Amino acid sequence: MRHTQFLYKPEEIEKIVNGYSEIIVLADENTAVHCLPLLEPLLKNVKQTIIIGTGEEHKTMQTCEKVFEKLMAVHITRNALLLNVGGGLVCDLGGFSASVYKRGIDYINIPTSLLCMVDAAFGDKTAVNFLQTKNIIGSFYSPKTVYYLTDLLKTLPQRQLYNGFAEMLKHGLIAYADYFEELCGINLTDTEKLLPYIQTSIDIKEQIVEEDPHEHGLRKILNAGHTIGHALEATQKDIYHGEAVAWGLLAEAKLSHELGILPAKHLDIISACINKYYSNSKPQNIDYHKMLEKMKHDKKNTDEYISFSLLQQIGVCGYDIELELDVEVLERILA
Ligand code: GLY
Repeated sequence: MRHTQFLYKPEEIEKIVNGYSEIIVLADENTAVHCLPLLEPLLKNVKQTIIIGTGEEHKTMQTCEKVFEKLMAVHITRNALLLNVGGGLVCDLGGFSASVYKRGIDYINIPTSLLCMVDAAFGDKTAVNFLQTKNIIGSFYSPKTVYYLTDLLKTLPQRQLYNGFAEMLKHGLIAYADYFEELCGINLTDTEKLLPYIQTSIDIKEQIVEEDPHEHGLRKILNAGHTIGHALEATQKDIYHGEAVAWGLLAEAKLSHELGILPAKHLDIISACINKYYSNSKPQNIDYHKMLEKMKHDKKNTDEYISFSLLQQIGVCGYDIELELDVEVLERILA
């Protein structure tokens, strides 16, 4: 059985939202302009539209407080629905706000970026950042539905497509070698052709989440590429999450190979694929010391050890691999 319900047809979402006493829409400054107009025909009875700023610096408890203030101002009941229309920030922060407001109200995610469609919109993780630490305050709380309005993909700039595509490559790398091989050959400009691949990525993540919803074990393979990826994201200027994850996947594959886990021929295939799609965003002027500090403070780690999910081959990933990393190794695997 699927963990989350997924909808693709406007009639289906219309039927669901009409069952609530009040609908509150949460959007950001971009999605309010570019995406809400596409949804308006489906959305009658919207009591309030809350618009938050774009960018990671807005993923805070302060923004949550603003959301709570607005919810209180319109006196919503517990039978209200929060409709999150946006990328990871809106879906994560909206999901978290819904999980605690009046001890939990329903929410639906309508992801507007490829990154969010294949990752943050489902899997029940909600979060905000706190004291410079990413996603440290959060909860596991399921959206009632995730609605895929795939027409939104047509409006996305190319860099945004690559941003989400890295998570799709990760899905192939950790769980499905043939899928990874297919992804390495596709042309990202044709968004219509992306749809079946998006579905495959959703299926892969869903299966993993179903087996381990609270990340006690297997779900950690979804963190492949993210130990180094998050540190790159935190220390590089102007790098997108997906770009950091792509280079994180390659660096961690090199680490796995150095440890004698990943065979050379698999590393070569991964390297060719990442370089094919992401050579324009290769991290420059890396501050390895700062990266290492960030990695040590990640919530997944204990003491000095850094926890990795490392590929054993394309399509197979291990987790809970604890390593003591130094600057020289980091420099070598990011070269
Ligand atoms: N984004 C990784 C996960 O949902 O577990």
